[in-house]
Amino acid sequence: MSLRAKRGNLKVPSLPPRLLRHSVPRNDIRHCQFDIEWDDGQLFPEVIYPDADFLLRRMNEATLEVVNPRRDELILDIGCGRGIDGVELAKRGAVVIGLEPSYVMLKHAREHISANGANMSLVRGLGEYMPLRNKSVDKVVCKGALDHFPDPPMVMEQIALVLKPGGEATIAIANFESLGFKLGRMVWWFRKKLGFKAAVGRMLWEVPEDHTYRFDYLSLRRLVNEHLEMEKATGVSLFFGIPWWGILLSKLPRNISLAILSSLDKVARCLPSLSDVVVLRCRTKY
Ligand SMILES: C[S@@+](CC[C@H](N)C(=O)[O-])C[C@H]1O[C@@H](n2cnc3c(N)ncnc32)[C@H](O)[C@@H]1O
Repeated sequence: MSLRAKRGNLKVPSLPPRLLRHSVPRNDIRHCQFDIEWDDGQLFPEVIYPDADFLLRRMNEATLEVVNPRRDELILDIGCGRGIDGVELAKRGAVVIGLEPSYVMLKHAREHISANGANMSLVRGLGEYMPLRNKSVDKVVCKGALDHFPDPPMVMEQIALVLKPGGEATIAIANFESLGFKLGRMVWWFRKKLGFKAAVGRMLWEVPEDHTYRFDYLSLRRLVNEHLEMEKATGVSLFFGIPWWGILLSKLPRNISLAILSSLDKVARCLPSLSDVVVLRCRTKY
């Protein structure tokens, strides 16, 4: 597997060779199960209800707030997907490297970077086998991706190694023990007891097929604490997953539904264990 993403005709800054590790265990990579064709095209439903729309937007905003990029800081985005967050960080003055194994997502990312003229380079690779040198980056961000990795503990270990002393990591992930999912499970349990027909398809609180792990606030904290010092936990959005919640909000005037979602989000910020998404800011131990 080539470590550098092919650049084609698009203008994407190249990665300075001094940052690359010389030897990456290619055999290990070959034995590791990962999806080099992963494509987010399949993720977007035909109808996006106001709760899902708000959740995704706030997840992006909250992650960027927690990363808080400074001018010329070197930030590594692990599982960068389309490079949307990386480009935003670069617009704020950071120098960004996106790490991504999927050819499909790298293609999208190259197009997005090129369209924005952003200072973001791409490396094809896995978080488990970090292609960057130890102590080489100021910050790491990993949003909505840790639960797609074959080995999240190994990625956390690598994050701790690649960060400079005092460097920060921001991890944002869906909370499968959120209040919304708990209530959703409960309502569906009662419906079943009352003899209603079983639902067709995956329920929101069931782990999707393309996920490798199921995280909640506590399991994420435990994992992070093994390698890094957790400094701050923020929750994002509340009640996603409550049955018919999105449909109900869609019937309300937009400003009212937004006011409700924003008020719930304010509560969620202080209750990460119950919120829909958890964003952790962590620092190296040494
Ligand atoms: C749900 S997407 C999130 C993308 C992006 N961070 C965002 O928030 O839009 C998860 C990404 O992780 C990538 N990925 C999967 N396994 C990985 C691994 N072992 N190392 C690095 N990235 C990986 C996938 O290809 C995918 O682009």
